[in-house]
Amino acid sequence: MLEIYSNTDGSKTLLNPSLNETYHSRHGAIAESMHVFIEKGLRHELISEKKEISIFEMGFGTGLNALLSLHHQKLNQRIHYHAVETFPLDYELVQQLNYTMDLPTEISDNYEQMHQLPWEQKHAVTENFSLLKQNADLGKLSLESNSVDLVYFDAFAPDIQPELWCAAIFEMLFTAMRKESVLVTYSSKGDVRRNLLQAGFEVEKLAGPPFKRHMLRAIKK
Ligand SMILES: C[S@@+](CC[C@H](N)C(=O)[O-])C[C@H]1O[C@@H](n2cnc3c(N)ncnc32)[C@H](O)[C@@H]1O
Repeated sequence: MLEIYSNTDGSKTLLNPSLNETYHSRHGAIAESMHVFIEKGLRHELISEKKEISIFEMGFGTGLNALLSLHHQKLNQRIHYHAVETFPLDYELVQQLNYTMDLPTEISDNYEQMHQLPWEQKHAVTENFSLLKQNADLGKLSLESNSVDLVYFDAFAPDIQPELWCAAIFEMLFTAMRKESVLVTYSSKGDVRRNLLQAGFEVEKLAGPPFKRHMLRAIKK
């Protein structure tokens, strides 16, 4: 049973009590997603200049990263968003996190739509933003080669789910990614960095979100 957790910055996230693991940083959910996925990923020069991009997200969860990608989408850029998730959440629970509190009604409606849309099919959320939610295990997934521009790697922590942060998974993603594409993740663990390097990525250690020293960005050259 998931619980609502109040972060130190006043934002909320979900806590899985049996794992003692939260869906976002305990110091700020929106601040973390904005920094790691939007500023270091969506706004990276390899991504922001493209007219059309495919984003793949590991772990749709609350849909916060999809929401922020839509909200911060450039006017002239089309986004195809594909997310996998083994444990889809009820919108009634997600709504209690108030992630759209400061956003325009239109975006808030789009967010609700993202949650209510059926899984396993690609849908247009707006004219320039499509969403495919797949109820699947990342470890069993096969993605089309050279099809992804940007990966949001947002699994539970490497200590909790080490099988998802291994070289084999990163190799699968590397193959699915196009040339000059980007993977971002909040973790900066040495093992994760080494596994990304083993998969063929160039890896940068960047400043992390509030209260977190580092994060990783991996580039497929
Ligand atoms: C750290 S949470 C982040 C969720 C989401 N990105 C968000 O902002 O709410 C990790 C998510 O990965 C999902 N997950 C865990 N194992 C998975 C797997 N093997 N395949 C796909 N999703 C998985 C969890 O259910 C959870 O929703």
